Amino acid sequence: MTANLLLHDDRTITLRGERFSVCMDSEMIQNRVAELGARISVDYEGKRPILIGVLNGAFMFLADLMKKIRIDCEVDFVKLSSYGAEKISSGVVRELKKIDADLEGRHVLVVEDIVDTGLSMQYILDIMHSQNPESVKVVTLLHKYEATEVHVQLDYVGFRIKNQFVVGYGLDYGQVGRNLPDLYVLDPHEDDS
Ligand code: IMP
Repeated sequence: MTANLLLHDDRTITLRGERFSVCMDSEMIQNRVAELGARISVDYEGKRPILIGVLNGAFMFLADLMKKIRIDCEVDFVKLSSYGAEKISSGVVRELKKIDADLEGRHVLVVEDIVDTGLSMQYILDIMHSQNPESVKVVTLLHKYEATEVHVQLDYVGFRIKNQFVVGYGLDYGQVGRNLPDLYVLDPHEDDS
């Protein structure tokens, strides 16, 4: 099988024939994740929240975030249909894996890797609210604030980023690139195509 990921040096990669460079390194991400975990620990003191990770992209952020939460918490996952192999949102969302936990009366914290148009998050929030939780909040590592099409309340945001395609730290390009510990952005000249 031909390799899709080529690591050139510390800062640049080629993924599926397109060039990306580091926009946030692992240290920067981990520092922010620690801050979010500390905030959540304070805000949910005495509440035992259930974190709902959005598969597949949020698995890495969720794992790191949970390790920084210093109160009782639980975890479950939901899975939605994704972009497929494309770099722009199809706008079509489907639920592929349902939550196993009973959310009635619970404090739900949805954990997402990135909010782009907001359509996925709106869809997830509708599912959450239909199960009568006590509260629902959202934590997202990244928010593409210029791409928002529907308004959703984002309670904790790691970084606000421009409308650029990013990979790494759980985020993929055609299912590859998730294993990169840093976050990469498509080089600007590549975006013209
Ligand atoms: P939305 O429904 O348009 O907000 O898209 C949300 C989902 O699209 C995220 O959970 C990601 O899986 C995916 N996504 C959005 N932007 C990017 C990106 O820049 N790189 C990789 N995946 C992305």
